[in-house]
Amino acid sequence: MFIFFLFYLFLSEASDTLTSLQPLTINQTLVSNGEVFELGFFDPGNNNLYIGIWYKQIQPITYVWVANRDTPITSSSGNLTIVDNGNIALVNQTGSVFWSSNQSTTVVKTVAQLLDNGNFVLRPENDENPENYIWQSFDYPTDTLLPEMKLGWDRKSGINRFLRSWKTNDDPATGDYAFKLDIRGFPELVTFINETIHWRTGPWNGIRFSGVPQMKGVDFMRFELQENSDEISYSYEMLNSSLYSRLVINSSGVNQRFVWYEQPKYWNEFWSFPDDDSCDKFGYAGSEDGGQDLYVRVAASYLGQSQITESSKNRSGNGNQVGRVVGISVGACVLLILLMILVYFKMKRAKSPENSMDREGPQGRTDDFLVNNGVIIPSRRDYHGETTMDELELPLFDFATLAIATNNFSDRNKLGQGGFGCVYKGILTEGEVVAVKRLSRVCEQGIEELKNEVRLIAKLQHRNLVRVIGCCIEVEEKLLIYEFMENKSLDTFLFEKEKSMKLNWKIRLEIIRGIARGLLYLHQDSRFKIIHRDMKASNILLDKEMNPKISDFGIARIFGSDQTEAETKIVVGTYGYMSPEYMMNGYFSTNSDVFSFGVLLLEIVSGKRNRGSSNTNSQLNLLSQAWKLWNEGNPLKLLDESIGTKYSENEVLRCIQIGLLCVEEQPEGRPTMSKVMLLLSSETVRMPRPKHPGFFISKGHLETVTPSKQDDSMTMNQITLTILDGR
Ligand SMILES: *[C@@H]1O[C@H](CO)[C@@H](O)[C@H](O)[C@H]1NC(C)=O
Ligand SMILES: *[C@@H]1O[C@H](CO)[C@@H](O)[C@H](O)[C@H]1NC(C)=O
Ligand SMILES: *[C@@H]1O[C@H](CO)[C@@H](O)[C@H](O)[C@H]1NC(C)=O
Repeated sequence: MFIFFLFYLFLSEASDTLTSLQPLTINQTLVSNGEVFELGFFDPGNNNLYIGIWYKQIQPITYVWVANRDTPITSSSGNLTIVDNGNIALVNQTGSVFWSSNQSTTVVKTVAQLLDNGNFVLRPENDENPENYIWQSFDYPTDTLLPEMKLGWDRKSGINRFLRSWKTNDDPATGDYAFKLDIRGFPELVTFINETIHWRTGPWNGIRFSGVPQMKGVDFMRFELQENSDEISYSYEMLNSSLYSRLVINSSGVNQRFVWYEQPKYWNEFWSFPDDDSCDKFGYAGSEDGGQDLYVRVAASYLGQSQITESSKNRSGNGNQVGRVVGISVGACVLLILLMILVYFKMKRAKSPENSMDREGPQGRTDDFLVNNGVIIPSRRDYHGETTMDELELPLFDFATLAIATNNFSDRNKLGQGGFGCVYKGILTEGEVVAVKRLSRVCEQGIEELKNEVRLIAKLQHRNLVRVIGCCIEVEEKLLIYEFMENKSLDTFLFEKEKSMKLNWKIRLEIIRGIARGLLYLHQDSRFKIIHRDMKASNILLDKEMNPKISDFGIARIFGSDQTEAETKIVVGTYGYMSPEYMMNGYFSTNSDVFSFGVLLLEIVSGKRNRGSSNTNSQLNLLSQAWKLWNEGNPLKLLDESIGTKYSENEVLRCIQIGLLCVEEQPEGRPTMSKVMLLLSSETVRMPRPKHPGFFISKGHLETVTPSKQDDSMTMNQITLTILDGR
């Protein structure tokens, strides 16, 4: 019995390690510690022998890696062993080497180990750091990308890792299709046949590849694009470690994503590309499309108007490009007008009696505020079921009064140009100074924006929100009257060299705290849950004492108390402040406001705009710069020089860290505003480590994306209107 037990132990305890003393013979295998993967000799059906890795538990045998794909052993004997120079080698009877890890290393005492993630690694025998690999199979993929395996460039070793298809289903030899990370434009994955593009995923958008909508909403995997001084790579990980998934480029050039199902047991093809259905704008075959053309596509679809204009300036030497850009701009304008018309009719319909909200039962309540994209529609109820007045709960002013107050809207009284019209300084007859926002007449959409804003802000009271004093709605004219803010908006201080000197660290910190309090109130403490959707420096106004007040609720949205996320097909906001998930998919939530807050915070600390740094030598945008400095251990370099030397290092560091936490790529990883308030006000609360920020644009791309300087003050330029791909 005991002997049987020993024998059993001997049989079942297959080793995961190859040593110089113990070669692997044809009928032996290595098995990873957790019995996930197995490595050994195999014959795929062409009477040749290969060294490969496959899943230990899965039938039919699924190979994920082949060592000697182009140099099989043709006889029926061979050994995998560690040879004298420390490398792994595949040798036959006569001692000929068929394959080797082929590293020049001074370490001669090495072992090779098969890990549970499928990586076969060669490392020094007695090394304190078990991850000090001399060689690893993950650096030399075959046709399969496993979780944790990286596709793309290791900038230190110079290795570009990519997949290459098998020749046929029973021949692992190098096939025709290569699947690579293409970093000539925005990073994307591309299938090549020889040097020709066969298929592409569309650029990485911060969460997924934009041409692979199937990646959306996959909750058991996390996709990642890493970019730093060490690497630029794509990888994914399983959030549930008991699930298996793999990405394969098959011998006919199709990318297949498989997920293993346990009941019944089979590899489910989760998606495949290119698929037959090719209305997908990126999932196309094209031979000559290079990075340039792609950039224009990107710009047209989601970078917005101002970037297109700028890129046409940058490229004025290239007539063909300009033509294309102009063409697209015109197209975008037509689209915009069509959209406005559509929205207009939708609203008309919503207002007509047969569509009236009044007819809806109580279950319709949450939607009352969400029926028309971006705009809150009159409703007789709020979420608590109370009856509220449909009338605007604000003093009404007549137009003549306001005309007198503003010197007939003279240019001298003009304070600035906001989202949907100009703002003027006005003095009422009692001497009260006010700011009057006159909505541009051409903008039909502006009326709803105005009503939206009035309804919303009339109900909100907080010292960090700008107060509305009244409004004027006459046939031709729509105006809003606000409290006057002596110091205009934050951007006029922050981004102007001389004025920024007035913002010392103490004032900046108070501004950050004030904005955070205002936003917290919107998200959590007011009667409603409000998503601002356009947090940015020009929407933060400063009063006499430099107290910040959040303004411009034109596109804000109310959420039901249990609602956490909404989706819109019309993405309105400002490039540079929009979170990836909002910009790309139209998803917005308190988390997307937190992202914008994070950008704003970093702008306040650095005195630089997120898009286009004032330092022309810098090609990194603010977020990437902050992230880079943070990782290099130099976060203080981000601090605006105008601040001088009077600041608390601790406070600055905390702020930068909070900013980075807020701009994290994954919305659910960002802190809530109440957490932000806590972190801002306490010196002792432990802070989480920030993760990769959204929109990490790589070096060299930004020059084409730098927006024009004045567009923050322009009306339409700052609005990005996008129709997202059909869903
Ligand atoms: C493989 O290793 C075994 C055990 O060390 C040895 O007996 C055998 O001759 C080797 N075979 C080849 C082909 O090198
Ligand atoms: C992980 O996946 C397995 C198999 O589908 C499932 O049974 C298990 O509940 C999952 N675990 C978690 C934490 O989601
Ligand atoms: C590659 O994948 C596609 C899509 O699943 C499939 O139709 C095709 O047969 C596969 N090619 C081979 C050679 O298996």
